[in-house]
Order: sequence, then structure tokens, then C-alpha cells
Amino acid sequence: MVAYSNNGLFIAGTDTEVGKTFVSAILLRILRRQGINATYFKPVATGCPAGRGLLPEDLAFVQDLAGVELSEPHHCPIRYEKPLAPMAAAELEGRPVSVEEIIRAFDALRKGSPFLIVEGVGGVMVPLGKDYLLIDLMEQFGLPCLVVARPSLGTINHTLLSIRALQNKSITVLGFVTNGKKDPTDEAAATSPSLISRFSGIPFLGHIPIFRPEAEPIDAFIESKAPFLYDFIGAFAACP
Ligand SMILES: Nc1ncnc2c1ncn2[C@@H]1O[C@H](COP(=O)(O)OP(=O)(O)OP(=O)(O)O)[C@@H](O)[C@H]1O
Ligand SMILES: [Mg+2]
Repeated sequence: MVAYSNNGLFIAGTDTEVGKTFVSAILLRILRRQGINATYFKPVATGCPAGRGLLPEDLAFVQDLAGVELSEPHHCPIRYEKPLAPMAAAELEGRPVSVEEIIRAFDALRKGSPFLIVEGVGGVMVPLGKDYLLIDLMEQFGLPCLVVARPSLGTINHTLLSIRALQNKSITVLGFVTNGKKDPTDEAAATSPSLISRFSGIPFLGHIPIFRPEAEPIDAFIESKAPFLYDFIGAFAACP
């Protein structure tokens, strides 16, 4: 029995800059190429350009890579200019994060789209308000998640901590991936995924290497370097 809602997926990270946007965009591209009119949601973005009409960086990236039309405030209701953690930006800019606004935008997108990919903000314990962390918002969303981790030394601790925190909240973790630069001689990168799986019970889907647009088109990259993402999202989105 599926104990979670399967028309959406939360992309959680062990940290900022681990590749949540990149993975979200790839999964969205796969779904849309399969004819599923999936869309994307980023509850809070910081470091947003001030000019009107300029999309937050993550939205612009997903829009370009996945070929999906995104707009604020629908796909990113809370935005701050300062490139800081949400609470820090909120306090400096004098505008607290409105969870009500986030939930309103999230509900509207869920009603209007067959599949929603939600990207996290930094790591799962990032504060959004008084006694309220990103992981609390994840719990409210009620979506299962995929964890994106970096491959290098230190990832065992970060990934196990993130997974344990999610499991303590009874948030379903479907799997984890590593993403980004990986030295083929790096023994830490070679051994970490199986240790993380062994100690968490969560499956490792695979490693996503660096994409170089000048070397190959994105679809060829996904097919040859990260085919496990097709299998993962295909099987998941097809669940009744
Ligand atoms: N596999 C990859 N190949 C090429 N570039 C990548 C890859 N993964 C991530 N990047 C690039 O690395 C940078 C950081 O990745 P990304 O923006 O996806 O991280 P993030 O976890 O979403 O960060 P944030 O917490 O700021 O949202 C971006 O410029 C992104 O395009
Ligand atoms: Mg991002």
C-alpha cells in the first residue's frame, strides 16, 4: 500500500548547492517528455533579483532545462533579495516567512497539475519561522521525498542525519542520489553510498555526474549518465 501521496515529490538536500535544482529540473523534463504535465514549486527563494519580472535563479534554471513555463508568485510565493538562509533574510528584510501563503500556493498548484515537484530550501533543518523548520513544512506537504547528497567525504554524516530527521517525522524517503563532481580515484565517494544505505535502509539510486552542455545534449546525458532517474520517476509517477 502506498502510504503517501504519489502525485508529487519533494526534492530534499543534505545542504545548499548540492544539486536540488538540477535534479528537480531533470525529473521534470523526464515527466514532461513522457506527456505528464508536471510542474515545479519552490516555497522560499533567497538571493532573488530585485527587478520585477526577473525569475528567481532556481525557477529560471528549471524553466530552461525542463521547458516549463514558471512564474512568481505561483511557483515561488516567498522571495528575498539577500542571498542568505530564509530566516536571516526574513529578519533583515523585515518580512517573516508566511507559511499560510506557501500552503495556499502549494494547494493551488497541486489542484491544477497532475504531478508536482517541490524543491527544498537548503538542508532539511533550515529554520523558516519560530519553532518551525523546513522539515515541518515537508510534513505539512505530505509528499514523499528524494534526498540529494554530495558524493565527497563527509556525505555519510550529512546524509544519515538528514534521513534520520526525515524518518523521525515519518516522512517517506524513497531514495537518495549523489550529484556533482566525483573524482574516479576518490575512495570516499566509492564507499559512502553503500554505507549510507546499510545504516539508513534507504536505497541509493545512483550518482549524477557533471553535465557539460558543450559535450552532449541534456537528453543524451540523462540517458547515458543517469538512466536510473528514468526508472525512478517513471515507476513512481505511474503508481496508482
Ligand atoms: N550534475 C551537474 N552538472 C552540472 N552542473 C551542476 C550539476 N549539479 C549541479 N550543478 C550546478 O551547480 C550549482 C548548484 O546546483 P543547484 O543549484 O542544483 O543546487 P541546489 O541544491 O539547488 O542549491 P540551493 O540550495 O541554492 O537551491 C548550479 O549552478 C547547478 O547548475
Ligand atoms: Mg536550488
